[in-house]
Amino acid sequence: MSLPQTTLVDGHGRSVTYLRLSITDRCDFRCVYCMSEDMTFLPRSQVMDADELVAIATAFVRQGVTRIRLTGGEPLIHPDLLTLVSRIKALPSLRELTLTTNGARLDTLAEPLKQAGLDRLNISLDSLKPDRFRRLTRTGRLDKVLAGIDAAQAAGFARIKLNTVMLRGRNDDEILDLVRFARHRELDLAFIEEMPLGDIVEHDRALSFMPSDAVLSRIEEHFPLRRSAEETGGPARYYRMDDSPIRVGVISPHSNNFCGSCNRVRVTASGRLLLCLGNDNAVELRPLAGQPERLEQAIDDAMIHKPERHHFSLNEPTNIVRFMNLTGG
Ligand code: 5AD
Ligand code: SF4
Repeated sequence: MSLPQTTLVDGHGRSVTYLRLSITDRCDFRCVYCMSEDMTFLPRSQVMDADELVAIATAFVRQGVTRIRLTGGEPLIHPDLLTLVSRIKALPSLRELTLTTNGARLDTLAEPLKQAGLDRLNISLDSLKPDRFRRLTRTGRLDKVLAGIDAAQAAGFARIKLNTVMLRGRNDDEILDLVRFARHRELDLAFIEEMPLGDIVEHDRALSFMPSDAVLSRIEEHFPLRRSAEETGGPARYYRMDDSPIRVGVISPHSNNFCGSCNRVRVTASGRLLLCLGNDNAVELRPLAGQPERLEQAIDDAMIHKPERHHFSLNEPTNIVRFMNLTGG
């Protein structure tokens, strides 16, 4: 096994060991906080093909990245998903390959994904009420996602994590039900503060903001929580309960700045390297996908542009026009 040649270190001394790679901007859902109802997607010619995606993943792993998460849009609608997973999983010195999904196609894909070598799954779940689930996702069906969760557990995926975007007045009355569901199914669960990405007119972000501390106090009324010392290198703060094996986390881009320990970068489906979710600093990698050495050099050179922190604000309109489906969270 060849060891990575280098480690990526940014201009603020942070090591970058984690890549989130979007493999498509398309999605079969239209979640209110992520997309507008009439999204236009990239023309196919602007989306990287499987070879380009593997070339990008290879370059990052050679530069010391040890964990890759495949995102979308919705990665499960990608026609070459299973070969992509096995090709990326085969990269020497990659420690973990994970994927974030809306879960709607896991009923048929969980088992083949496990066979292809996928290590772990995050599944988005914003409501346990079918009608509300439909309204929040605009097109999604809760029963399909629940069947997907069943299939993922049956396929042997461990440490599955549910992600819930918290929206005051829309799903904050389900915090305890979601915790009970996660406890019952032995799934980890993270509550996420909504991030101001993309101009979403149908939904007022300042009104729906639900700070993580309010989520935690609501849980604590029924389930005493202890802060867990585990550090994932990611933005989540985790808590445990005495009577359950699960972890409950909160991701708080507004109320708790986590940029100091940021270990990640993102690549969009069109091959733009984004150095921070909350800024527009980007480097085009796709033109270099066929030239491994230049690609690795470009990635290394880009690190100096990773900003120190994001500047999300609830009260000003977002100046980040990029919708979340370009980066997959
Ligand atoms: N703010 C926070 N999370 C978001 N996601 C999508 N859009 C947003 C947003 N604006 C989440 C999804 C999913 C992951 C891919 O990103 O719910 O869990
Ligand atoms: Fe699709 Fe995920 Fe965006 Fe929802 S949040 S529309 S599932 S990409």
